[in-house]
Amino acid sequence: MDELLTLDDAERLAAEVVEPGAWGYIAGGAGDERTLRWNREAFSRCRLRYRVLVDVSEVSTETTVLGSSVSMPVLVAPMAYQQIVHEEHELATARGAAEAGTLMCLSTVANATPTEVAQAAPDGPRWLQLYVFRDRGVSDAVVEEALAAGFTALVLTADLPVYGIRHRETRAGFEFPEDDVPALAAARARGADTGDHTLTILESGLEWDYVTELRERWGVPVVVKGLVTAEDARIACEHGAGGVVVSNHGGRQLDGAIASLEALPEVVEAVDGRAEVYLDGGIRRGTDVVTALALGARAVLVGRPVLYGLALGGAKGVAQVLDILRDEVENALALLGCRSPDEVTRAHVVTGFPP
Ligand code: FNR
Ligand code: LAC
Repeated sequence: MDELLTLDDAERLAAEVVEPGAWGYIAGGAGDERTLRWNREAFSRCRLRYRVLVDVSEVSTETTVLGSSVSMPVLVAPMAYQQIVHEEHELATARGAAEAGTLMCLSTVANATPTEVAQAAPDGPRWLQLYVFRDRGVSDAVVEEALAAGFTALVLTADLPVYGIRHRETRAGFEFPEDDVPALAAARARGADTGDHTLTILESGLEWDYVTELRERWGVPVVVKGLVTAEDARIACEHGAGGVVVSNHGGRQLDGAIASLEALPEVVEAVDGRAEVYLDGGIRRGTDVVTALALGARAVLVGRPVLYGLALGGAKGVAQVLDILRDEVENALALLGCRSPDEVTRAHVVTGFPP
């Protein structure tokens, strides 16, 4: 763990300990992995404009997301099947996120139930990511349990109406761990046929009215995750979304899709303050975080590096990865001439450079 100084270190070190099939599933992207690469490259096209002789003797990275206080504008992205890298799976991730003072978004396809996650980290703020089963009773039961366990928002993932074409996991022979996923077990117990791929039991027919339905039924903010256009951002706001996550699922769904950072400005403009705008995809440095803030994100979510930390050291590894990011965000804020995330503005970044 002494060698773990950057998120890229976490990736390199985790590659040595994660089983090859699981590695293909986690690290890979869809198709030719162009979008996976572009998510990172998009940050290299931006340049930061920093200001000087600003008193930055006190810098705070703290902010809020939908009213929850977090230690930094970095949240833990929902990721399925965490048991494939660590036996304490989502429970360790929840503890690590809470230790780092930030929010965890729990996947529907998790190895732990919402109740177990709440018990593992009672003080950690938490949202539930929602995949909707064709048998709505299964999703309803997960939501009901999560809300009873103190989850404060529903994050409806909109960019997986069908599963992406992912060759790395196929070539690596990854087998989806169907057992030990409570939501999948519940679906099977109610007669769902998991078919040739586990996730074929998810609904492909959702439309925007479901956002309204969720909001009205459960009375908590609904965040729409996985959109990349001004058009969809406007519709999300019209349906009362409390937030949107500009995301292409970490390059795991539509290959050739626009990088999330490239899509951010149009979404921010379309939302026009009606909802909180978050971004994920390719965040690996504190400077990436402040770049996203400058382009209008309220916060970002980080995915794969959290799993790498989990693989390397359970809850401690997760906390270490998040602490590295927090230190880097603090450093970047000070050097930008900003005392808090709120002080980062559009004037702090120039875009459009060659990568
Ligand atoms: C994901 N992602 C994801 N998203 C979601 O809404 N529900 C899920 O269950 C999962 N599962 C999942 C598993 C794994 C192994 C990965 C790597 C990703 C997508 C995730 O939330 C996020 O959008 C991306 O991972 C962000 O990109 P980076 O930070 O990994 O580059
Ligand atoms: C993934 C799903 C499960 O990206 O969200 O693997």
